[in-house]
Amino acid sequence: MPPGMQAASLNFITNGSPMVSSGQRRKILVTGGAGYIGSHVVKALIEQGEDVVVFDNLSTGFAWSVADAELVVGDLADRGALNDLFGRHQFEAVLHFAANIWVGESVRKPAKYYRNNVANALNLFELASDHDVAHLIFSSTAAVYGQPDVSLLNETLPSAPINPYGASKTMAERLLTDIAATSSMTFAILRYFNVAGADPESRIGEATPFNNHLVKIALETALGLRESMAINGTDYPTEDGTCIRDYIHVEDLAAAHVAALQHLRQGHPSTVCNCGYGHGHSVREVIDVAKEITGVDFEVREGPRRPGDPAELVADNTKIRSLFSWQPRYDDLRMIVDTAWRWERVLFDRRTSRDDAFDLRQSA
Ligand code: UFG
Repeated sequence: MPPGMQAASLNFITNGSPMVSSGQRRKILVTGGAGYIGSHVVKALIEQGEDVVVFDNLSTGFAWSVADAELVVGDLADRGALNDLFGRHQFEAVLHFAANIWVGESVRKPAKYYRNNVANALNLFELASDHDVAHLIFSSTAAVYGQPDVSLLNETLPSAPINPYGASKTMAERLLTDIAATSSMTFAILRYFNVAGADPESRIGEATPFNNHLVKIALETALGLRESMAINGTDYPTEDGTCIRDYIHVEDLAAAHVAALQHLRQGHPSTVCNCGYGHGHSVREVIDVAKEITGVDFEVREGPRRPGDPAELVADNTKIRSLFSWQPRYDDLRMIVDTAWRWERVLFDRRTSRDDAFDLRQSA
């Protein structure tokens, strides 16, 4: 465990009212629970009194981020290990986060995405169904929609991905739908828009080195970990020429998972929901807010478009709001950037106190 984490990481139980009492607890498997989004969901589940087992290969996740959950280190490609895990525990529900997530990388290395996000997901879905798991929640993405010609994306739009990442998630959605149809397992497919921000108490957050997300890159540039950053394209058909995305705070996304689980437990049928706030911000707006919150006027270059980037992705979130009674608490770009900034400084202090601190300038 890195220095500085002892006090912060070990107990996520808060004063909220738990969703389950100890008498009715059944185990929940969270794949990729040591990663950025997965760890925030694990925290939210533990706060609800759930009994969580995390399965993670730690390729991009961290053992310190799973707090009180049991961590099993393993890879979804290892069907035998996964089968043993299902044999050892009677999981009521599976939440599947373990996946590769970079649009740009998926264009350069499509096979990696199809192997991990599709073939490995197939192992998990099949075993979950074989082992009578009641509910499965799958991390999907707005990237399944491709580049639709509408300003707000709702779930009835056809899947038409324009990059291998989106295609891999589309395929996994189909696998899950077909496999679940052969059993009593119900599922919720949650299509995330742009997830950002961190635990408001800065115990966990996005910590994967060489991360490509806009908010993260802007804050690393403000910290001086990168000499400058680039805007990927300034000639898009948007008001300021840069891409527009719907940024959702990771805590609100975690709450959506807890709500989805509750929904399925109440006996409702399988569903697909967008997770976003219903309004977007341009790349320039995000950079301006990052400069304002950090107080650093870091260097920004105007670069070429990044292959595979749609101009605008904004969620119609009517369905998730009505179906799960989900109410966002952090729908504010400044709050998102502020929690991410506080986490980034915790991470910076921790890394500079370690021998294995990496130099982000090498990857910028
Ligand atoms: N961007 C820059 N400069 C950077 C980094 C990003 O201009 O240094 C731009 C991107 O080109 C894009 C926007 O900022 O236009 C957002 O890029 P991110 O990499 O932060 O996020 P993406 O929109 O590419 O993808 C993210 C997730 C996907 C998810 C998608 C849904 O990584 O998993 O949001 O909207 F599918």
